Formats: sequence, structure tokens, C-alpha cells
Amino acid sequence: MCYYLCMDTNIPVIVISEYANTREVLKLYLNELNLFSDYLFANDLLNAYELVRKNPKSLLIIDISEYPDPGLNFLNKIKDEFLDCKIIALSDKPSVDLMIKIMRCGVRKFLSLPIIKNEFSDLVSNLWDEFCGNAGKVGKGRIITVYSNKGGIGKTSVATNLALELAKITKENVVLVDLNFHSGDITAFLDLKPSFNISYMLQNLDKINKDFLLSTIEKYKDTSLYVLADPPYFKQADNISADKILTLLEILRDTFSYAVVDISAVAEEKTISALKISDLILLVCIANLPALRNSQRCLEFFNHSGIDTDKVQILINRFMENDDIKSDDIENLLGKKIFAKIPNNYFTLMSAINKGLPVCDINPASNVAKSYRELAIIISDNIYKRNMMKLSADG
Ligand SMILES: Nc1ncnc2c1ncn2[C@@H]1O[C@H](COP(=O)(O)OP(=O)(O)OP(=O)(O)O)[C@@H](O)[C@H]1O
Ligand SMILES: [Mg+2]
Repeated sequence: MCYYLCMDTNIPVIVISEYANTREVLKLYLNELNLFSDYLFANDLLNAYELVRKNPKSLLIIDISEYPDPGLNFLNKIKDEFLDCKIIALSDKPSVDLMIKIMRCGVRKFLSLPIIKNEFSDLVSNLWDEFCGNAGKVGKGRIITVYSNKGGIGKTSVATNLALELAKITKENVVLVDLNFHSGDITAFLDLKPSFNISYMLQNLDKINKDFLLSTIEKYKDTSLYVLADPPYFKQADNISADKILTLLEILRDTFSYAVVDISAVAEEKTISALKISDLILLVCIANLPALRNSQRCLEFFNHSGIDTDKVQILINRFMENDDIKSDDIENLLGKKIFAKIPNNYFTLMSAINKGLPVCDINPASNVAKSYRELAIIISDNIYKRNMMKLSADG
């Protein structure tokens, strides 16, 4: 193992990797960033620990590809003892299981090997900003819209459970937005009666700011999930323009780390505008021919309406291993890889909906609860940001 230490502005970077080429690449990229200089290295975790002990305010980059368990134990120890040490974990085997373990250690920054220069530079620069007290000043949240051009396909189930899992995993502020102005279900799914709804926010766009939003939008129990519900009366949904929705979504993007939007299947101007400014669109599909034909049409419609299909990801809901239509068929038909699958579990879903509870409160060990959690892990933090960076670099 080798450890590099760089001492620019008294904040060192400690890099741990078994592989000489990984160390060299990291050193090269760190040099190019020119935030740190003077490197130092050591050969085992004991020496690494000593380096962190001597430099408690440091950036630690650790490759846990070869020995994940000792690496994770080491991270647990560092996290507990050195609160000012910021950590990036690396692995060439980025499984969901490993991601969960890394997150349980309290490490939120993860990159797959081989390193992609843009994503590494972006991550290190963000951490540098955090060291310098500039965290959050440059970063914006992400708008994730859960969509299908077909009703009753599972949009609200996905949006609600995904938003809650994102809040639980990241501990960051997440807002769940109901843009179904005449038929929103989120309040029923979470058994809420919020004092302020989206129509109030839209009527007071000139007054709302971050503090106002955080103090008025209904918080879900003791989580960091905020719920911006649809108006309870039809009349309150009148005169809502697409422009106003765009302005509100931009304010939400500046206020929350993630805004998860549940939106009407009707392809009206409001919906198209929201889809256009979303960072990620989860297109919910079901593995049957009419539903897939609709999804195909939906992708054609996105192309036709100027909605960037690169940011559309396919989510198969109610997935069953023994479905007649296989994953390969779906990918061939839609011309896209499947991003995630939520298993069919009608009993758990109906029990959750009828009790007004999220699926994780009904049965956290159920296949659906686990899948919503995995979906949130994939979307959250680095994996999601990396996809977006790749897209913007390609675009
Ligand atoms: N993974 C799942 N397994 C089994 N049933 C599911 C699953 N996801 C959703 N459902 C069921 O599908 C039905 C519709 O779900 P949901 O209300 O989330 O869809 P929707 O797309 O939001 O509908 P709408 O277009 O009416 O808003 C519900 O009865 C729910 O129980
Ligand atoms: Mg719905």
C-alpha cells in the first residue's frame, strides 16, 4: 500500500491504493487541480492511521478494491475519531452491497475505478470547498421526475418511497413534489394534511426563499423529507402556468439536495416544462406489450418535444422474473438499458397505501422496500452525479 500526503495550505491529501497506476493517476489529477502539493506515502493501514492522526484535518482517498473489510473497519475508526477528515472511497467492484456498507461507515463520497478525471476533479474540488467553508454555495440540487404517459403504473409509489429513502440515506433535505394538480395522491400515501400546499407557494413566488420553504413545507415525521402537496380544492389549481412551475422548481433546486416530482401522465405544457428542466427522468414501465408500446411512444414524444432522452432512465415496475417479456426484449424495444427494477408485490404495496405509510414502515425486509432503497442508493450522491457529469461532458 502507498500513501501520498500533500501539504498545500496545511490540508493534506492522503491517498491509499494497492496499485501503482491508481496512485500515479491520482497524483497526476491532484497535481493538475493544484489545490494540494508535497506528497507523502506509507505502506500499511497502521502508517496511514498515524498520518491521519498527525493530520486530522485531511482528505483521505482510500482504494478498498482488494481488501474491502479491513478498509471499511479502518474507515469506521477514522470517521469516529477524526471528524475533520474527509474521505473518498474507491473500488473497482462497486456493488450495491458495498455501497451500503460504505454509507453505513458514514462515507458519502465514492468513485468506481478506473477513475474518470472529470468526476474525480469535481468531487475533490467540492471537498476543497467544504474545507474552505464554501460548501453548498456552488452546488445545486437535482430534480428527479417520475413519469409515465400511462396512469396507474406506479409513479406515486415510486416517487414517494424513493424520496423517503433518499432522505434517509443521504440525511440531506429532500422535497417530494406533487404536480398532479387535480388528482394528487401523495398526501394519502403518507397520511398527511399539510397546512401549505403547492398552490400557496406558486401564488407567493416573489416572497419565498430557502428559510421560508424549510419552515413552511410539511416535514415527514422525524426525517429530512419535505412534502409539497397538491391543492386540496380544484379551484386552487386554476391559473397555474408552466412558467410559475418552472420558477418554483428552480427555487426548490436551490433549496433542497433532491426534488422528487410526481407528475400527471397528461402531456400538457406544465408537464413538458417540468420534464425539460429535470436532471433525471425515471420513465416507469411495466413488462407487458401495451405498456411497453406506450413507453416507446413516450420516448418518441420526448424526442419530438425537445426533452433530452439521455437523461431518461427506464424503471421497470411490478417486475417478475417469470414475465413472458424478458429484460433483453424490453431493452431492445426501448433502445435503452434498464436502470432499475421494482418487484411486483401487490400485498405490501396495497397494505402501505391503505395504511398511509411508506413501504419501509410496512415491511422493511420486503423485496420492494429493498428495491426502493437500492434505487435511492444508485441515484444518490456520487453515482448519480457521475452519470450527470458524464452526460454533460458528452453533451
Ligand atoms: N411494485 C408494485 N407491485 C405491485 N403493485 C404495485 C407496485 N407498485 C404499484 N403498485 C400498485 O399499482 C397501483 C397504482 O400505483 P400508483 O398509484 O403508484 O400509480 P400511479 O402511476 O401514480 O397512478 P396514477 O396515474 O393514478 O397517479 C396501486 O394500487 C399500487 O398498489
Ligand atoms: Mg399517482
